[in-house]
Amino acid sequence: SEKGFILENGTEMPFLGFGTYLVQEEKIILDALDCGYRHIDTARRYENEKMIGNALQQCGIPRRELFLTSKVWKTDLGYDKTMASFEASLKDLQVQYLDLFLIHWPLPFPGADWKPLVTESWKALERLYDEGAVRAIGVCNFLPQHLLHVLKTANTAPMIDQFEFHPGYPQYETLQFCQSRGIQAEAWSPLGRGRLLEAPLVLELAKKYGKSPAQICLRFCLQNNVLPLPKSSAPQRMKANLDIFDFEIEQEDIYRLLTMPQTGWSGIHPEHFE
Ligand code: A2P
Repeated sequence: SEKGFILENGTEMPFLGFGTYLVQEEKIILDALDCGYRHIDTARRYENEKMIGNALQQCGIPRRELFLTSKVWKTDLGYDKTMASFEASLKDLQVQYLDLFLIHWPLPFPGADWKPLVTESWKALERLYDEGAVRAIGVCNFLPQHLLHVLKTANTAPMIDQFEFHPGYPQYETLQFCQSRGIQAEAWSPLGRGRLLEAPLVLELAKKYGKSPAQICLRFCLQNNVLPLPKSSAPQRMKANLDIFDFEIEQEDIYRLLTMPQTGWSGIHPEHFE
């Protein structure tokens, strides 16, 4: 659609979201809303839901115009703890429902017996979805093997998988898996934590297309049908990060970005994935 990605169940989401990991200042959220962001991505783990709730109360934007995502952390896997975590998120965000609720991580700790815990958490998410407490449900940092496990017993399939995705680290197996099953992918660290903004290929393409390195990285997400969640503390960069709809990266350059040598954080920390 013109306005955003459409999930398997018909839910529409803005093309970009504002990432809030390590964001603790209300002013940053208000600035992002002012710049035009309507999709805010948080998590219980970020410990900023109260602050975001306060910003949302102040901004004057009707709830239905916002798209709010939160996540249950890996130490709260299991049915009851997931339910309690969701309730705590609602209370802190001062809202009646979430647009999207995600399991933050498949593994509670390296080597853990994650399967039964993930099954139980997924049952909780399905119940919240059935009750209308969330408009969509999904997962984060799930590789195809984790998704297959959920799909085996799920009544409602995950609609989203949010994982690290940026030039040189597209986790292509996971992306392909998601796309073959109608699971919308979201990118965390779409700028590679800022590091990619100095990568020679990204700089070369920025020059070629007359855009900034960050805009190249974000447009790269969209052209792979991945929803980017950039974060910035500066309104000028927040705005620039939304200004990615007036150019198109040639397919040849998309492949160069997909295959450029680069290691993601996830690649350096395989123990978090099994
Ligand atoms: P800043 O807050 O000073 O803008 P990622 O989302 O991949 O984790 O990257 C976030 C980092 O990228 C932040 O440190 C942010 O710094 C920086 N950043 C975000 N947008 C831009 C931009 N348009 N140009 C340069 N740096 C940016």
